[in-house]
Amino acid sequence: MCGIVGYIGRQDAAPVVLEGLTRLEHRGYDSAGVAVLGGRGLRVAKQAGRVRELTDVLPKRFAGTTAIGHTRWATHGPATDANAHPHVDETGRVAVVHNGIIDNSAALRAQLTDAGVTLASDTDTEVVAHLVARSEADTLEGKVRDALRVVVGTYGLAVLHADFPDRIVVARNGSPLVVGVGDKEMYVASDLAALVRHTTTVAMLDDGEMATVTASGFSTMRHTDLSSTGKTATQVDIDAAAYEAGDHESYMRKEILEQPTTAQAVLRGRLDERFGTAHLGGLEMDARDLRAVRRVKILGCGSAYYVGQMGAGLIEELARIPADAEAASEFRYRDPVIEPDTLYVAVSQSGETIDTLLAVQEVRRKGGRCVGLVNVVGSAIARECDGGIYLHAGPEVAVASTKALTNMFLGFALLALQLGRVRDLSIADGKRLVAGLERLPGQIEEILAGEADLVEVAKELAEARSLFFIGRVRGFPVAREGAQKFKEISYRHAEAYPTSELKHGPLALIDPEVPTVALVPRDELTERNIGALHEIDARHGPLVVITHDEVDLGAIGARRIDVPRNEPELDPILLTIPLQLLAYHAAQHLGHDIDKPRNLAKSVTVE
Ligand code: F6R
Repeated sequence: MCGIVGYIGRQDAAPVVLEGLTRLEHRGYDSAGVAVLGGRGLRVAKQAGRVRELTDVLPKRFAGTTAIGHTRWATHGPATDANAHPHVDETGRVAVVHNGIIDNSAALRAQLTDAGVTLASDTDTEVVAHLVARSEADTLEGKVRDALRVVVGTYGLAVLHADFPDRIVVARNGSPLVVGVGDKEMYVASDLAALVRHTTTVAMLDDGEMATVTASGFSTMRHTDLSSTGKTATQVDIDAAAYEAGDHESYMRKEILEQPTTAQAVLRGRLDERFGTAHLGGLEMDARDLRAVRRVKILGCGSAYYVGQMGAGLIEELARIPADAEAASEFRYRDPVIEPDTLYVAVSQSGETIDTLLAVQEVRRKGGRCVGLVNVVGSAIARECDGGIYLHAGPEVAVASTKALTNMFLGFALLALQLGRVRDLSIADGKRLVAGLERLPGQIEEILAGEADLVEVAKELAEARSLFFIGRVRGFPVAREGAQKFKEISYRHAEAYPTSELKHGPLALIDPEVPTVALVPRDELTERNIGALHEIDARHGPLVVITHDEVDLGAIGARRIDVPRNEPELDPILLTIPLQLLAYHAAQHLGHDIDKPRNLAKSVTVE
């Protein structure tokens, strides 16, 4: 989604900012722009299209040591040159870049128009530039404060003003902003990924905070009254190389292949072989707290929600606590009943998904306890939760999530184990699951080693306009995640169904043109699943079956993909890995931009 980068220092600022913007490209965007403050005052270049295209057409005299830049993902108004950020006021002295949504922009636009201002774009952001310019405060901080007083909505924003050439002022409310400290030069960005090549000494702004950034340092303050919040920078433990694709043809492929290693990272130090349990210090819940939990409610969006469904299944099976998952984007709008003995679990790779963040805030506002399963350390959701489990998957750049989702599943397995072992789960079962978790990274590696066998199957699936993914009970969320991955990057219509529901409607669509990818593990439902395969086969529906080698498909005509068996409760994640590869190779066969699928953003920070 939208990205912000800013620089102030000794270097020519525009190239630094443009390079930073390329680091945010995978988040998804449709326009780019940059504003520079130099000897010629404030100058802006912006247009619909890629950062590279903007770089190619940058005016010759675009020098200056202070700049802000932006990649826009259209919300208010289409992707046009005029709607691209930065937005400027009528005098051309103020430039603003903004992530988030200004909810009262229609009213503010009307007020500005009534006051004689000519608006140059359809965006919500433009109002901020005019409001800053029209403030009578005598400092830039005062002008920004005055503008924010009338703005309702979410924002991460950066402001340049020709009358205050020694600074960038940034502000945050709901959209991330990081200040990076260099040597007599400073950076701002909406994501660490844009900074890590330059510095790992950073300060993350909190909601309601503003910062003045000059070439020699920064100071933080509250929006409301400009009183200091005294934030200092800290060192983040991030390897810049983790953000590079290296020799891999895409980030998604790199991230799929990293899974044996990243899966070990989430388990490391958390398994207790002796007592067959897990230790999750970050939850900040002792055995008594864990025992008091009567229900678990998991909240996430998109694929995180589907993994949440897998997690709910694990928790019910291992801990025998009623558990379910709900799309955070729905939960937050339906005035949910928050129960004191329910444990709410927010699950998110980015930790910035606004729907999930607002769901967490709703839970906490009503007195509920919410823990997080989050990948990005220090992100908004991680900070908002009462405690949690970091996923340690490392930076995930590709829009289609893979390694983070695997670690979400493993995080849920750890949580289910711990909840189970303070209840009725036997030590023998606990040890069985600990051993299963320890085997998992090696089994993921085994599946990845068989990648070549999947390529042809993926190509065949890519040719279909429409596909089904089916699974039963533990397998249904796997099917949902498989269909999600497939549609995201191949743009094929892929629909997930519980296998048991096929005969209640969708069977009408089965014919030789509509393939079905079926999940058929060796478990208590194998025979029933095979029954459904017969129904599809009888209607000449092409079948791809993800299964275990002990499963006998008899005379059913199917392409089969065997995965190693683990414990039945843990099998869902192993069944998921081939689905990642099928989606990947189908998209590659179709020649799509795998890391940047159309219309999608890595982190959805608008409502
Ligand atoms: C799918 C995908 C999205 C995200 C969803 C939540 O591959 O990436 O569906 O899972 O937008 O994002 P996070 O986990 O960052 O909250």
